[in-house]
Amino acid sequence: MKYRIAAYISGSGSNLKAILDYSIQKKIASEVVLVIANKDASGLEYPASLGIETAVIPRKEMPRKEFVRRQEELLKKYNVDLIVLAGYIRKLPKEVTDKYENRIINIHPALLPKFGGKGMYGMNVHRAVIEANEKYSGPTIHFVDDIYDNGEILLQKKVEISIDDTPETLQKKVLELEHIAYPEAIKLLEERREN
Ligand code: GAR
Repeated sequence: MKYRIAAYISGSGSNLKAILDYSIQKKIASEVVLVIANKDASGLEYPASLGIETAVIPRKEMPRKEFVRRQEELLKKYNVDLIVLAGYIRKLPKEVTDKYENRIINIHPALLPKFGGKGMYGMNVHRAVIEANEKYSGPTIHFVDDIYDNGEILLQKKVEISIDDTPETLQKKVLELEHIAYPEAIKLLEERREN
């Protein structure tokens, strides 16, 4: 069965773009109906060009209550039943994680439970993986709860790290896999919903 997805982003939104393209090509049944960012992220341009509602809700520029209220209002307006975090750097408010328990997923650019937790995002993760002389890395898609990178793992994909990989080349390798893994994870959830 299909989901009505709200995607949360903070940056270039390449994972969101991959999901949107799978959805347009009907390779997944779900639809992105809303995109929320914590700042004026460049990744908002593509969904906006497709006519999808985009909203910038910056935490620091409003009282917490207002920050929560605006999200709740939009999630309700668009009947969202799955939240997809795609490079969103803020923690979701408890009001939202409570309401969407088991219906929020995140992508992390390493093989959790290693290399997760607070401060572990973007290039920091790839640097730590290279420094630890790991043999493999790859994206993890997991359910989101109140603790960073803690929820149940839904899907992982592995790529071998070669001796001449740098954090930058590793990031590129992992990101390519992310763009395949994230739509695949959504498809898995669609199938679970049918059963
Ligand atoms: C992705 O590599 C994602 O795994 C990472 O941010 C990037 C967002 O890229 N997320 C984290 O590090 C979460 N801890 P995108 O905006 O191009 O999709």
